[in-house]
Amino acid sequence: MNAFGRQFRISIFGESHGECVGITIDGCPAGLPLTISDFTGDLGRRGSGAKGTTPRKEPDLPVIKTGVFNDHTTGAPLTIEFSNTNTLSRDYLKLRETPRPGHADFTGMKKYGGFEDYRGGGHFSGRLTLGLVAAGVIAKKLIKPAVVTATLLEAGGSSDIDAAVEEAVQKRDSIGGVVGCTVAGVPVGLGEPFFDSVESLISHIIFSIPAVKGVEFGSGFAGSRMRGSENNDLFVSTDGKTLTNNAGGINGGITNGNDLVFRVAVKPTSSTHQKQHTINIATGQMTDLEIEGRHDTCIALRVPPVVEAATALVLADLMMLEGLIGRVYSR
Ligand SMILES: Cc1cc2nc3c(=O)[nH]c(=O)nc-3n(C[C@H](O)[C@H](O)[C@H](O)COP(=O)(O)O)c2cc1C
Repeated sequence: MNAFGRQFRISIFGESHGECVGITIDGCPAGLPLTISDFTGDLGRRGSGAKGTTPRKEPDLPVIKTGVFNDHTTGAPLTIEFSNTNTLSRDYLKLRETPRPGHADFTGMKKYGGFEDYRGGGHFSGRLTLGLVAAGVIAKKLIKPAVVTATLLEAGGSSDIDAAVEEAVQKRDSIGGVVGCTVAGVPVGLGEPFFDSVESLISHIIFSIPAVKGVEFGSGFAGSRMRGSENNDLFVSTDGKTLTNNAGGINGGITNGNDLVFRVAVKPTSSTHQKQHTINIATGQMTDLEIEGRHDTCIALRVPPVVEAATALVLADLMMLEGLIGRVYSR
């Protein structure tokens, strides 16, 4: 459904053009210092404004509704909301009859019988990742000294990201990208051998980010073309550190004390200004669609802070399950 995690549990809510989007965290320990300024950095990195991002500008101001008192978490459910102020819903009326290829217009309409809020992509919108990033700010504090860092490695198949974005903007089309994520300082022993392997849990949350279509750990798909002797990470010290990190920091679903390393494939934005073939649901005929409205040319530009947040959320939950995060204040 819309909740994730066991001891550090998030519930995500809202629609792109509804009143608000946001997140509720259950299980956040009491006594963690938290002020609005803590959110500024990561929310700003996720925001729009750079070339290749949507012209929709929102203040993205977090409003802490519950769970914080005197600049500290209280231990009660913590809800953070963001108002939607800059909406142009008329752009989406046309899409009721002509679903965008590659978007969730068709599947959303079929699943929810037309009752879904379709405006701006509704509950499917990338705008919901604001809540993830906000929760991630708290998770990042809890998992210290582990530090999560994600960066955009390539866009449109090129490491010259600016040039690739510029070309896509000129061509009025969209491009995807690959985000790399590393976590340093991960303790040994997080995760379980099967369904709650660290790969499974990280993939679960990363695939919840709209537009993500692939995740690979360590040497990933390239590892399948190596020999075992090449792909194995040779131990160099008794604490489990290895010479290489083709495993991406995970063996048997369990963290091995080396950096956690994975990459995320983000697809090109489905809403491009190129003419595309689609169905007209009202007439049953095929038709051409030219999408209006404000869209990211390259979603991947905005995804690194979302990947960081999602990863920190999984690690916070796993560390709590292992008893590595408990009370954050002294009595
Ligand atoms: C930060 C962010 C921004 C996004 N911006 C757009 C956008 O401007 N236009 C669009 O069509 N999709 C955008 N998306 C992607 C859609 O939400 C997504 O493609 C859609 O919900 C369908 O899901 P799927 O691509 O995972 O199948 C964005 C996603 C994220 C994470």
